Amino acid sequence: MANPKFNLRDYKSEDFETLWKLDQACFVAGIAYTREELSHFLSHRNGFSIVGERNGSIQGFIVIQRDHIDAGHVITIDVQADARRAGLGTLLMNAAESRLRSAKCDSVLLEVAVDNLPALSFYKRHGYSVLKTIPRYYMNSIDALMLGKRISSQ
Ligand SMILES: CC(C)(COP(=O)(O)OP(=O)(O)OC[C@H]1O[C@@H](n2cnc3c(N)ncnc32)[C@H](O)[C@@H]1OP(=O)(O)O)[C@@H](O)C(=O)NCCC(=O)NCCS
Repeated sequence: MANPKFNLRDYKSEDFETLWKLDQACFVAGIAYTREELSHFLSHRNGFSIVGERNGSIQGFIVIQRDHIDAGHVITIDVQADARRAGLGTLLMNAAESRLRSAKCDSVLLEVAVDNLPALSFYKRHGYSVLKTIPRYYMNSIDALMLGKRISSQ
């Protein structure tokens, strides 16, 4: 369902600085992407990125990469702290899943830190299940959970 508060559009290269600062604000040093890493993912030819705006100002974004022909990977989803719990994360996730479904992907994978309880609640709400634990995935100390969801239409 459309959310009148937010407008979604594709990422443009002019957005880079804003997205990088938002990612820095969302994650601690060591988990947040370096400029080089974020730039790599945003310009990856096997992926896409969607930006969410309110009143022309970027409030969040999602970066997706196609891992295999039939699987999408959420590289990151970031919503500005003061815009959370207003449905933007859901809009971004639904838009990304819908685009992947149209591109004949039938599953989505992602990693999340075991101590990121807001994100775990969010993904559970979106139907993601734990596939496995990846020891010391973040900063060589914090475990990650790999989550997955089937998105095929039937
Ligand atoms: C995870 C994140 C993207 C969610 O974005 P959001 O815009 O706040 O999400 P929504 O408003 O669409 O939330 C949808 C539902 O997810 C769940 N949820 C989201 N945030 C939650 C929280 N802090 N605590 C508990 N449940 C939460 C709720 O069920 C919520 O529905 P409700 O508000 O009606 O209860 C956002 O918290 C964020 O950017 N976090 C920092 C970056 C991050 O950790 N990203 C994930 C990386 S793996």
